[in-house]
Amino acid sequence: MNRISTTVSAVALMISGAAFAEPQAEVLHWWTSGGEAKSVAVLQQEFADNGGTWTDMPVAGGGGDAAMQALRARVLAGNAPTAVQLKGPAIQEWYEEGVLADISSVAEAQGWADVLPASIAGHMKCEGTWCAAPVNVHRVDWIWANADVLESNGIAMPTSWDEFNAAAEKLQAAGIIPLAHGGQAWQDATVFEAVALGILGSDGYRKAFVDLDQATLTSPEMVAVFDQMRTMRGFVDPNFPGRDWNLATAMVMNGEAAFQIMGDWAKGEFLAAGKAPGEDFLCASTPGEGFLYNVDSFAMFAVDGGDKQAGQALLAELIVGKNFQKVFNLNKGSIPARTDVALDEFDSCAILSSDEMAASNEGGSLLPSYAHGMALRGAQSGAITDVVTQHFNSDMSSEDAVNALWAAVANSL
Ligand code: GAL
Repeated sequence: MNRISTTVSAVALMISGAAFAEPQAEVLHWWTSGGEAKSVAVLQQEFADNGGTWTDMPVAGGGGDAAMQALRARVLAGNAPTAVQLKGPAIQEWYEEGVLADISSVAEAQGWADVLPASIAGHMKCEGTWCAAPVNVHRVDWIWANADVLESNGIAMPTSWDEFNAAAEKLQAAGIIPLAHGGQAWQDATVFEAVALGILGSDGYRKAFVDLDQATLTSPEMVAVFDQMRTMRGFVDPNFPGRDWNLATAMVMNGEAAFQIMGDWAKGEFLAAGKAPGEDFLCASTPGEGFLYNVDSFAMFAVDGGDKQAGQALLAELIVGKNFQKVFNLNKGSIPARTDVALDEFDSCAILSSDEMAASNEGGSLLPSYAHGMALRGAQSGAITDVVTQHFNSDMSSEDAVNALWAAVANSL
């Protein structure tokens, strides 16, 4: 059978399957915090409203490391879930293993190419076919703050790392934890990449974490990034090891801590707790230019059975649907991936995100988050994060960290 007739019969099978089958999906995801669970419930509800039966497979653990381990075990056992929260180059890595389903028939029927920015669509494609459906755009380089704590201590949102350090020292002297942080490798990496963007600038960030350029990774500026990480280590409380990110967000909410550096899924937590932006909490981009994006998406795994395939087609269609993109993102803290969703119901942090995403796209500083798996393949991002977390949790010098960073990257190539 030639390639064209194979494709046609696959589409015909999907359509005939969808006509007779009852859509089913087992969905693997890591959305288990308050805001995340509220958000994924929107998809669950829409799926049920359209006749689907959802089997939930949540794997707790921010950033998804545990979920990705669970996925590997399931695929190795020959029993892949129907739909999986998967993003960035990991999508193409799984495609190369030959285990992803082609969702091009849905994408083409729904005109995804017309409503998704090219930069996002590119992440959803595998050798020209559509292999994932985007949910949102999260921004990573944010600072969140407790509004009352800042006001009562006479502190404005910092616009440089020096201002951040000065504010943190003042707060510490007043008995407030300056930085709410959870000591998990992915959270260390989240703070690190925001600091790196601020200190290296967008070109330096790209050279370091997209191009893996040796000169940038070993530069004096990279030493300065680790110096700032060392300074920030002094601003976290002694109980930080192992703390979940949403518990760190709660510390900012209840005024125990002043700031958190975290992607805008933190806003989902504030909102789920009934807090209002601009009143209870403040949002600002971390010091420096640029925008680090993190696009959540779902990939469908190749599975047998008309019911499951119908479930995959329905899920893909709903995920990129206009209503879902609005309601889900109002809860999640992110902004829609589609460009044609009106933002009038979104809050000021989301509007800021959308405006700065457009501006950074124009200015060439819209960049993929390395810490959230958008910039590099797993081996390379893992090598960088190992060094970042080792440095943060020891007394390693910044110079030693930079040397270890290049050695780890070179070894992973
Ligand atoms: C990110 C993911 C977000 C958020 C966060 C914490 O990697 O893209 O949707 O949920 O992890 O779990």
